[in-house]
Amino acid sequence: MKAHKETPVSLADRLLEIIRTRSKGLTLTYLSRKLKRNPEELVSCIKQLKEWGYRTDYDRSSGKVILVSAPDILSSTEIMNGLKTRIIGRQVHGYRKVKSTNDLASRLATDGIGEGCVVAAEEQTAGRGRLGRNWHSPVGVGIYTSIILRPKLRPEQAPGLSLMTALALAITVDKLLPGKVQIKWPNDLLICGKKAAGILTELSVDRGRIDYLVVGVGINVNQTGGMFPEEIKKTATSLRRTLRKKVNRVLLLQEFLQNFEREYLQYQKYQLKKSLKKLRQYSSLLGQEVAVTSGREQIRGRAVDIDSSGALVVDTGSEILIISAGEVTLRVNA
Ligand code: BTN
Repeated sequence: MKAHKETPVSLADRLLEIIRTRSKGLTLTYLSRKLKRNPEELVSCIKQLKEWGYRTDYDRSSGKVILVSAPDILSSTEIMNGLKTRIIGRQVHGYRKVKSTNDLASRLATDGIGEGCVVAAEEQTAGRGRLGRNWHSPVGVGIYTSIILRPKLRPEQAPGLSLMTALALAITVDKLLPGKVQIKWPNDLLICGKKAAGILTELSVDRGRIDYLVVGVGINVNQTGGMFPEEIKKTATSLRRTLRKKVNRVLLLQEFLQNFEREYLQYQKYQLKKSLKKLRQYSSLLGQEVAVTSGREQIRGRAVDIDSSGALVVDTGSEILIISAGEVTLRVNA
C-alpha cells in the first residue's frame, strides 16, 4: 500500500500548492525564497511532479514556472484542491493500490480518526460488494472511496444512510446524464437500467451506540465495455459508456462529496423525510412487480412506496409489507 505522496507534506507538494495559485506562473527566484530552498532542489521537485502526472512549463525569458495541467488521480492533494465542504473530505487519504478502501477506513476509524475522513484509491485488489460479492476495481478508471462518519444517531437509524448516499450519487450523476439515472433500492445506481455504482455501508456499534460508520462507494466511471468481467458484462455500465466520453474522476468525486455532505447534514436532522420526493422520483422500482429476498424469505408483490425510514413498501395483494433490507429482482412478466 503506497500513498500518492509522502506525509508529512513533501517539498514537491508545497511547491505545487504555491504554483497552483498563480496561473501566469512564478519565478524560480521567488519560489526558492518563499520555500527557503535553492533552485536546484526546486528543479528536482518539478521532475517529481512530472512523475506524478503534472505538466509544468518553464519560460526561460521570464524565468517563470507555470502549472499547465494536473492529472486525474485520486490523491489527497487533487481531491482536496477546491473541495467545497466543511466536514466531508477535510482529511483525505489517497492511495495508488489498496485491498479495500472500506477495510482501510475501518482501521482508521478504530484508531480514532475523525468524522468526514475520506479514503480513496486508484485500484482495489480485494474490493468488496454487498452480500459477500467482489467489486471489480481496475486501476485508474473507477472511483473507489470510503467515508468515515460518526453520526449522533441510533443504530436503527443507520440503514437509511445508504439510501441517502444513493440519492447524493444520483443527484451527482444526473447532472452529467439528465434523466438517465435511477436508484435501485436499497443502494444501487443505474444508468439506462444498468448498474454503474454500488454502496457498501458498514456499521460499528459500541454499547448500543454508533461508534462509526464506513460508507463505501464504487463508481464505474471510465471503464470501456471490454473492461468488465464476463459475469457482469451484460448488467454493468460506466458513465463513459453512456456519455461516450471520458469523465474527470476528481471533479466527479468532489461534486459527490459536496452533495453527500448536504444530504448527510439534512439526514441528521430529518432522516429521509425531506428527501422522499426525490427518492421516489429516482426509484427504479416503484409501480413494478418485484421479488424481494430478505434473509431466508422471499416476498412477491408490487413496490408501492419508500417510507421515511428508507424501507420499501410492498403490496402483496393480501397485505402491505414494510421491508427494511433485502435484494430485489424485477419480475418482468409478472
Ligand atoms: C455493491 O453494490 O455490492 C457495493 C459495492 C461497493 C464497492 C465499494 S468500492 C469502495 C469501497 N471499498 C470496498 O471494498 N467496497 C466499497
